[in-house]
Amino acid sequence: MVNRHPRPPVLAVFNHKGGVAKTTTACNLALCLAARGWRCLLIDLDAQGNAGASLGFTPPPTPMAGVTDLVAGHLAPGAGLVDTVYPNLSLLPAGGHSWQNERADPATLEFWLAGCAGDVVVVDCPPALGAATRMALTIADAIIMPTRPDPLAHQGLTHTWYETKRLRREGSAHPVQAMILLTLTDARGPLADEALAIRAEFGPAVLDAAIPYDTAISEATRMTVPVVLFEPDGGAGRAYVDATAEIVRRLKLGPRSALPASPSTETLLNTLRDWRAGRTALRRLPHVDNRPPPASVARPAPKPAGASRPWIIAALLIGAVLGAALQALLGSP
Ligand SMILES: Nc1ncnc2c1ncn2[C@@H]1O[C@H](COP(=O)(O)OP(=O)(O)OP(=O)(O)O)[C@@H](O)[C@H]1O
Ligand SMILES: [Mg+2]
Repeated sequence: MVNRHPRPPVLAVFNHKGGVAKTTTACNLALCLAARGWRCLLIDLDAQGNAGASLGFTPPPTPMAGVTDLVAGHLAPGAGLVDTVYPNLSLLPAGGHSWQNERADPATLEFWLAGCAGDVVVVDCPPALGAATRMALTIADAIIMPTRPDPLAHQGLTHTWYETKRLRREGSAHPVQAMILLTLTDARGPLADEALAIRAEFGPAVLDAAIPYDTAISEATRMTVPVVLFEPDGGAGRAYVDATAEIVRRLKLGPRSALPASPSTETLLNTLRDWRAGRTALRRLPHVDNRPPPASVARPAPKPAGASRPWIIAALLIGAVLGAALQALLGSP
């Protein structure tokens, strides 16, 4: 992909199908790009605000600038971005209310992007081809389509693939690179055949890297960190590092993007490990918990079972002796 614009290249993460790891992919991709040293902007286009939440961003109770204002044309070029806790990674938060039925003009997004100083933009799209999604897909330089390898998701992917092509034919001046990323894969289970079927149907558009099903993702979501940070060397973490490297290779960014040279995978992993060490919240995780155990409240030691038995025996003996003595007294003439 040659970068044709004065603005940073845009990578939209989209699939019409819900729950196929769009947000997970957008956040991990964005963080890996930032860890490469590229200034990355993540646009949370989904009104659910899941991308922001996954990065630990909590919107303030008062209304704040975000995608809602961008779509309405109320944002100055490059305005509205907030820093995240990660170096090189900024976020345009979702904003507040659902704008799915509103008009969203691709020119408005281009206007806003022209003021962005970043190297690359990642867009987390909602699971619908609404106005905002069309706006992002129309101007995107690459579309990453995460998909689960199950029959219904396969149908959804086929629909997404052709709808996206039609949209681009009708509304775009430049070609787009579409890439399919298999997610939630299981090499040994029944879904393995569906993954092969998707590879057979879409050929080289399917990335070699695939993201395995990994419970670390749920844990990472609970800790509001992307899995590449939570477990850079785990199954899904390492797979997202590899997927990012493959996406960057395929994009072949052009001469306008004076991006720092791509670091080796090991350098990238070291950066992620360093960032992980710096995230104090992660130390609360059970398997990395290095805090001393909480101070124990002074409590009397529990009595061993039967500890009170000698007293009972003694009381019975005394009772028996007293009883016999009384009987002897009363019984004597
Ligand atoms: N590789 C994985 N292994 C296990 N769980 C995963 C994996 N990838 C994603 N998940 C989980 O699957 C669920 C859906 O992921 P995610 O929110 O990223 O999907 P989405 O496509 O963005 O959903 P939506 O369509 O609602 O926007 C989440 O609970 C996420 O933690
Ligand atoms: Mg999502």
